[in-house]
Amino acid sequence: MSIRGSSLLGLTEFAHRDGVLHAEGVPVPVLAERYGTPLYVYSRSHLLGQYRRLAEALAPLDPTLFFAVKSNTCGAVIATLAEAGAGADVVSGGELFRARRAGVPADRIAFAGVGKTEAEIEQALREDILYFTVESEPELERISACAARLGLVGRVAIRVNPDVDPKTHKYTSTGKKENKFGVDLERARRAYERAARLPGIEIAGLHMHLGSPIMTRDPYVQAVEKVGPLLDELKTAYPTFRHLDVGGGMGIAYRPDQAPFDLDAFAEAIVPPLKATGLKIGLEPGRFITGNAGILVTRVQYVKDNPFKKFLVVDAAMTELIRPALYQAHHEIVAVEGTAETVLGDVVGPVCESGDFLAQDRDLPAVPAGGLLAVLSAGAYGAVMASTYNSRPLAAEVMVSGPRHELVRRRQTVEDLVRDEVMPRWE
Ligand SMILES: Cc1ncc(COP(=O)(O)O)c(C=O)c1O
Repeated sequence: MSIRGSSLLGLTEFAHRDGVLHAEGVPVPVLAERYGTPLYVYSRSHLLGQYRRLAEALAPLDPTLFFAVKSNTCGAVIATLAEAGAGADVVSGGELFRARRAGVPADRIAFAGVGKTEAEIEQALREDILYFTVESEPELERISACAARLGLVGRVAIRVNPDVDPKTHKYTSTGKKENKFGVDLERARRAYERAARLPGIEIAGLHMHLGSPIMTRDPYVQAVEKVGPLLDELKTAYPTFRHLDVGGGMGIAYRPDQAPFDLDAFAEAIVPPLKATGLKIGLEPGRFITGNAGILVTRVQYVKDNPFKKFLVVDAAMTELIRPALYQAHHEIVAVEGTAETVLGDVVGPVCESGDFLAQDRDLPAVPAGGLLAVLSAGAYGAVMASTYNSRPLAAEVMVSGPRHELVRRRQTVEDLVRDEVMPRWE
């Protein structure tokens, strides 16, 4: 096997130069030395590049791109995108707080999620966000009651479940009729009628999200087609109905042989029908923007040979990146300093679970103990899904921009882990 190529997954921001992996202009060993491992490294240029590619491809729609904050809640990431003009798709009071703190204007925020509490709804009403994407009729009533109590108005876009198969993992498929999300097409009319009768509610639009990651344009095209007749009725019935939010889910390449999401083909197919609706279009991209903007850098602790298998035991684990354990997700793993040798085996972490692996039964770079590996495509659903299981402090996060690098989240300490604990005094 040859030295890992200079272009990883076609990325320009993470590439080997003279055998050393660079994040933009910064050698990754420099970052590992300075900030320690495990370490998340984000490329500012990739974040902005992906955001702009999407905005340009869909320019005829002048859409609002609500960055799906759940994919990466790092304040520096949100702020970078907010400065470029992104809004935010949030799913909790915590994400709403983070989005506002990072500078996202309230009138570019959409609030999704099946379990919004009264406190979260009141927080969003006080902030005067653009709209709630409403997942059920009881939620409509709760928003109405909160709005009436506060003397405010809650704008709502009902999440309609178009029953389209996004052809993704069953845990990340959300637009089929058996999923917990949204209301089905048949009941949507009734939900809007109910909304129209409730005080404190303004009908703002319709929302969909099909699942993630979606690799082709087809599910989007089918979904827009399916909701078309309903949109016509709603526009006529409710003068305040102005928004169509088609959600997120646009995929990225996780493997070298995987074709990336074809943005041009997507735009070509989706722009005309969306434009024809005459509505203000919104999208909620998360992974498309952040996925390949991040890598997880980890140091090999031990190379363990047992009679059946070889293990590279590293200092990152399912606690830093749970996607392999949770979804059997594939992440490319490369040597930070080029090696021509490969070994067949697993990359595992120190956590006491058999599910604690980052790669299984793969040709891996034969990096000795003390060497560095980079786990690619770790920018989305990576650090945000981290836990402190086994009392492992959360990893540090760094952003690079050209030759510069900045710590954007300091590594947790063990004191941080126990800071909120209280010892009972029973007398
Ligand atoms: C409502 C909604 N919007 C957007 C997203 C973002 O998905 P992705 O990161 O795949 O673009 C999700 C993901 O779960 C979601 O549930």
